[in-house]
Amino acid sequence: MHETSVKYLPAHLEHRFATIFGEEVQFERPLAASGMGARVVGIDLSNPLRSAQVELLLDTLSHSRLLTIAGQDLERFSLETFERFANHWGAPVAHPSNFLRGGKPAQQDGASDGAIEYQPYAHRRVAAADTVLPGQVACLPHESPAVLVATNLLGQDDRKEFRLKDGGTWHTDIEYEQLPIYVSMFLAHHVPVARDAPNGQWVEPPAESGSAPYFPGSDDELMALRKRLPLNGETAFADTAAAFTALPSKEQAKLEATQVRRRLNAEDEGWLAPLVRMDPRSGVKSLHSPVWASRPGVRPPIEVENMTPGESRDFLDDLEKHVLQPEFRYDHMHAPGDVTIWNNYMSVHTSPPIKIGVNRAEDARLLYRLSCKGAPSLVLPRDDDPTWITDHIAGGYRSPASIISTAN
Ligand SMILES: [Fe+2]
Repeated sequence: MHETSVKYLPAHLEHRFATIFGEEVQFERPLAASGMGARVVGIDLSNPLRSAQVELLLDTLSHSRLLTIAGQDLERFSLETFERFANHWGAPVAHPSNFLRGGKPAQQDGASDGAIEYQPYAHRRVAAADTVLPGQVACLPHESPAVLVATNLLGQDDRKEFRLKDGGTWHTDIEYEQLPIYVSMFLAHHVPVARDAPNGQWVEPPAESGSAPYFPGSDDELMALRKRLPLNGETAFADTAAAFTALPSKEQAKLEATQVRRRLNAEDEGWLAPLVRMDPRSGVKSLHSPVWASRPGVRPPIEVENMTPGESRDFLDDLEKHVLQPEFRYDHMHAPGDVTIWNNYMSVHTSPPIKIGVNRAEDARLLYRLSCKGAPSLVLPRDDDPTWITDHIAGGYRSPASIISTAN
């Protein structure tokens, strides 16, 4: 029973889509051999959702780990609407690239003190992306500090030369805070469609770069798994629910009893967090961020309780090697108008190699990301306790009433 719950979605979910959203909704799943991913077509998210509809989407993600709600009409589906939708999944988090902390860019500020000052869109670095392909590619209008723009369109200062940026390191979003991110979601606006690299894909595999961007010292097999990334701009995922389920029960029991010490900064005492989580809706168990150093040089490596730093690394490198096996991997191809939601407790992900400094629309990659913390809410506005918001959301951000009441 446990195994089937990871590999297959319960049949009632598909039936509920027809009942709750209408017969015309198409449902595809899984998207990966591991059982990860579901894709629905025919739901217009520019309309506010009823509680039963929200509940069904939450249930679907709790089983499938990743959910795409395809085909939003970007003429009508605004980033305000996107943020309103995100409020159902948790409290949207202001992204550090959108505010200053103590007068400095928060993204580079390891310490978490200093007053927070949200930056208007025009002052953000990403605003320069709008100057690259005028009339062809521009960000949808927004001012919210919760919207992270992920793009390979760069401003003049950053656009020195065309180059290929290596993929990122495997991670989950904001696992280094006491309350980690629950879901993140992308709205895709532009995706690269050029396939004119010599290998017939968007990009060639990046040149050999030794261990970078990882710390040296991991074994060759793990390094090869880490660096086997998609070449057409897909986001790379690995399914930590299927990876956990595939382990012998004795190993599962050991991992369920394991806690890891996470820290924001190296000198902090940090806190203990469970390595295995159980989704409260589906009961599916998964590994949360089972990676020794997911942000090398930015956040400190984690330690396993009752292990030395060296033992912790060996233990977690073995676990990462298991999670990154091909049978648990899924490269998600984005399409314009797709909203793709993933559960950070049930997956790890990384960005692919990306051409940057591009000057053709067919190379443009432009996605908007929102991330949410805390419990889902079937109705809006959310009813988060003000103290909880202050404790867990940078700057005490809340989506303003103008966003929650957005109507199309
Ligand atoms: Fe991420």
